[in-house]
Amino acid sequence: MSDPVWSDVDSFFEQALHAREPLLDDVLARSDAAGLPSISVTSLQGRFLQMLAASLGARSILEVGTLGGFSTIYLARALPSGGRLVTIEAEPRHAAVARESFARAGLAGRIELLEGKGLDVLPRLVGARFDFTFIDADKPNTPAYFDWAVRLSRPGSLIVVDNVVRDGELADGASTDASVRAMRAVCERVGRDSGVMGTALQTVGLKGYDGFLIARVVAGV
Ligand code: SAH
Ligand code: DHB
Ligand code: MG
Repeated sequence: MSDPVWSDVDSFFEQALHAREPLLDDVLARSDAAGLPSISVTSLQGRFLQMLAASLGARSILEVGTLGGFSTIYLARALPSGGRLVTIEAEPRHAAVARESFARAGLAGRIELLEGKGLDVLPRLVGARFDFTFIDADKPNTPAYFDWAVRLSRPGSLIVVDNVVRDGELADGASTDASVRAMRAVCERVGRDSGVMGTALQTVGLKGYDGFLIARVVAGV
C-alpha cells in the first residue's frame, strides 16, 4: 500500500526540516552497494527515535536488527557521553557494513554490535538494563524479543517495535501470516500486562504504510 503523495510530503518534510545529511546518505549508499535490502527507517523516523530516546534521557539503548546501522546511528546520537548502545545483527554481511557506518559516524566507541541471532545473543545480556529498546529484526520472533526487552528494562524504559501494521493485515484476526500473527500477539501482550503501558501509531511516508508499537515499562520486573 502506498500513495505518491505520502512520499511527496515526506520529501517536503526532509527538505524543510533539513533532515537529510551526507553521512547518513552515505550509510544508505554503502548499504545499497553491498546489496543490503532498502528497509531501514526513514530519516524522519530516525529522528523520531533519536528524539524519543533523548527525551527519556536514555543512557543505555538496545536494538535488535542493525542492518547497515542507519537507525543505530540516530539512536546512538541520543546518548550522553558515557552512554552505551548494544545492537544485534544476525547477518555478517550486514554487520560489516554497519561497523563501517559506526566508524565513519565517529560512534564506534559507544556502540557494541553483537553478531548472531537475537534469541541466541539476548541471554548474554542478562544483568544489563536498557532505558530504550528498538525491535526491528525478523518479525515472527518479535513477541520473544519484546519479552526479552521487558526483562532487560527498568521502570520507565521505553520499547518501540517497528513494522507492526503489515499493510493493514494486522486487523485480520484470521491471518495465517507468521509476521501478522506475531505483531497481533505482541500488541495483545502489551494490553494484557499491567506492568506495561502501550500505544501505537500508524504511519505513512517514503516507506509506504506502516506503524510503531510503543510501550512503557511502568513496573519493575
Ligand atoms: N533497524 C534497521 C533495519 C533492520 S532490518 C534500520 O532501520 O536501519 C532487519 C535486520 O534484522 C536485517 O539486517 C536482518 O539481517 C536482521 N535479522 C534477521 N533475523 C535476525 C535475527 N534472528 N536476529 C538478529 N537480527 C536478525
Ligand atoms: C522489512 C523489515 C523492516 O524492518 C522494515 O522496516 C521494512 C520491511 C521486511 O523484512 O520486509
Ligand atoms: Mg523496520
